[in-house]
Amino acid sequence: MKEVKKGLEGVVALDSQISFIDGVKGILKYRGIEIEKLSDLSYDAVSFLLIHGKLPNAEELENYSLELRNERRINRRLLDILNFCDFENESMDALRTAISVCAHFDEDSHNISKEANIRKTTRLVARFPTIVAAFYRLANGMEIVDPDPSLAHGANFLYMLRGKRPTEIEAEAMEKDFILSAEHELNPSTFALRITASTLSDLHSAIISGLCTLKGPLHGGARKGVMEMLDEIGSKDNIKPYIQERLEKKQRIMGFGHRVYKTYDPRALVYKEIVRKVAVEKGDSHWFDLAEQIESTMYQEFVENRNKPIYPNIDFYSGVLYKDLGIPSYLATSIFAIGRVSGWIAHCLEQYADNRVIRPRAHFV
Ligand code: SDX
Repeated sequence: MKEVKKGLEGVVALDSQISFIDGVKGILKYRGIEIEKLSDLSYDAVSFLLIHGKLPNAEELENYSLELRNERRINRRLLDILNFCDFENESMDALRTAISVCAHFDEDSHNISKEANIRKTTRLVARFPTIVAAFYRLANGMEIVDPDPSLAHGANFLYMLRGKRPTEIEAEAMEKDFILSAEHELNPSTFALRITASTLSDLHSAIISGLCTLKGPLHGGARKGVMEMLDEIGSKDNIKPYIQERLEKKQRIMGFGHRVYKTYDPRALVYKEIVRKVAVEKGDSHWFDLAEQIESTMYQEFVENRNKPIYPNIDFYSGVLYKDLGIPSYLATSIFAIGRVSGWIAHCLEQYADNRVIRPRAHFV
């Protein structure tokens, strides 16, 4: 038996044409295009790119956007189930249950042919935001807001959540959030759902594996942890004691460090600029200033005491963005999933297209 790599660190498990990451230089490309360029496109275009392997031309984009907008509504029985279950403000439990219910009503549910998977793709990508917004409004005793087909993916989500249209800058921020979250190679949730797909289980089941894995605080759940940390720290005076106390207890600071990036996560850099813009528009930079100070304190702590720097990952400034958009922390992980679903589907399609069941070995001790 060869050497065991704990956490599969550095293990290359498969070939993929979806993402390229250079963790030393801090480069991320979806299908060969830098994330910085992609963040200026629409989520629909990036979703098409991930799923179909190329950017859409004008006609393809118009058709895909139209299909997505036509599929945004969720049915009454799903709303009843969301209303009936007491999810105790755990939006990932609600989303996981909702996707199971969607499978129940999907005529292609058990069909894993390419054509059926493409049909299901549109329905899944279109309905994730509607489910999260509906859950939020039901949990808070508010009327459901129907999707607005005239609004883009990000703007429509904020509209369904709040019941009023976002500003242009808020809409841009939400759109970029979905794009930056859309895909990241063999991260834990994507790996989990590729294993599910490799058994030739169906798309909804694979997506549910992804949701269950994204939820954990060391993965997508860190975004919620960042928001809670910002509240707990509250003011600049508390940053150093908060960080030092946790590091002494060998606890993790949410939103920092990464298995692959040894430098600044390129997505965090894009996020930082969006958060700055939103803060300027609001005329309130409290959370942004606090976040920058946390970032520099973490950097100093690590350089001084561990001889290596540490940088924010995607979950740090996205958590700050949600604070500025007035989004509660219990929605954070499910909003990550709204973006990530396109990348997840791309990986399922890639797995089905050239499949061998994923089954590694354990070293018996
Ligand atoms: C995501 O993989 C992906 O691509 C995921 C993702 C995606 O888009 O899908 O990028 C999304 O999941 C981002 C990560 C979100 N998680 C967090 O923010 C939680 C906090 N981060 C850490 O727990 C950690 O950095 C991980 C989980 C992100 C990475 O874990 P590793 O690679 O197993 O690293 P490690 O835990 O073994 O840490 C290595 C060293 C340790 O020190 P030593 O024991 O070697 O001295 O770095 C230290 C750790 O103590 N360290 C931290 C830390 N991150 C690393 N110490 C305190 N706080 C941290 N956040």
